[in-house]
Amino acid sequence: MEKQTASLHLVSAFLAMEPTGCVISHARSLGGGSVTVDAQRFIWDHCISKAIGKCHAPYLKNFVKKLILEIESNRDDVLDELYELYTEFMTSLKDENAVKGTERALKYISFLFPDDASCEDAMVRELVVPLHCSLNMLEGDTGCSIWPASLFLSEFILSFPDMFSSKTCFEVGSGVGLVGICLTHVKASKVILSDGDLSTLSNMKLNLKMNQLSTDDDEPVSSECTDSVKCLHLPWECASESELQGLKPDIILGADVIYDPLCLPHLVHLFSILLDKTKSSLRFPRVGCDCAIGGSHEYSDGCDAQDVVAASDSAGNASPTEHPMAYISSVIRNADTFGHFLALVDEANLAIMDLTRTHQPASSLPYMQSYDRSSMRLFRLSSK
Ligand SMILES: C[S@@+](CC[C@H](N)C(=O)[O-])C[C@H]1O[C@@H](n2cnc3c(N)ncnc32)[C@H](O)[C@@H]1O
Repeated sequence: MEKQTASLHLVSAFLAMEPTGCVISHARSLGGGSVTVDAQRFIWDHCISKAIGKCHAPYLKNFVKKLILEIESNRDDVLDELYELYTEFMTSLKDENAVKGTERALKYISFLFPDDASCEDAMVRELVVPLHCSLNMLEGDTGCSIWPASLFLSEFILSFPDMFSSKTCFEVGSGVGLVGICLTHVKASKVILSDGDLSTLSNMKLNLKMNQLSTDDDEPVSSECTDSVKCLHLPWECASESELQGLKPDIILGADVIYDPLCLPHLVHLFSILLDKTKSSLRFPRVGCDCAIGGSHEYSDGCDAQDVVAASDSAGNASPTEHPMAYISSVIRNADTFGHFLALVDEANLAIMDLTRTHQPASSLPYMQSYDRSSMRLFRLSSK
């Protein structure tokens, strides 16, 4: 691997708080097989010294410890700075393993796009998103953590920006707000995020502000703050038909929302209202093709990604008009739960298409070894 790429991956992995073993493996790549003194100097200058006092201290302590062990086990010299910092941590941070239930960390998710990436627009070549998230995966009804499905949906949005630009986009179960931030980046005309959990919602608003986005319930955070995102407290069980119809989204999104069998009927009901052709506003030209599936529980592959891009490029021309579409990214953890979802979708007279193979987003998180892209699925829902 080229040195420049190795150093970019190393810094990105560190900022995203990837597991320390993963960051160290990037450090090894940078050093050409071991964490040389030059690689250590790079890590000190570009990662550690900048993070002291800012990043989650127990993470930093653990990283420094593992790094020293790695270097010593190779019988290489360790930078004095590393030993000194670790000694400081030993006295100041004694109970680092006791992660408190609500402990937050600031992670930076860097979407990296190689020059020849299949992204359509230079504006999406690079994006670094700071996000406050919880170290307890279950905090805020799971909504205060970054789940892999939102990374995949974000990669999808950034890979096919024209599908979302100038569209009203509404997300359910938005969690930390990453998908919404990517939607504003590709210039969605309106972004509406929602969640059923109040602590998740307040963390989401904090993240939007940190990314220079104002929420509708506050003044713009700074003069740089140009975009506004609407944030709704919207438990699927309580969403009224009139409230949903008032949103008039062109595109509905959801990442990792298919997991609780009790919530699924409400979620599918919400989709069926928002996707209802008879009540949709028919505002934008058709994208993709019409290979919708029949009424059984089977769901088909989508059509060629090229078709989607080509058709969306022709926005404003004589393309047939499109009804609202929903894009859902998911990990199928439990086949029965997913089967239940498919049965509900069928009962609601919705069509579902598996786009995983045909609409693979460009990989923009190559440094993130903890993110298993191969388990990701992407579905499109529409009214039949
Ligand atoms: C697994 S998390 C996914 C969060 C985010 N989409 C991501 O992928 O990182 C599920 C999200 O759905 C929200 N959620 C779960 N059940 C819900 C319900 N019945 N109504 C509204 N939101 C719900 C949770 O609060 C949480 O934010």
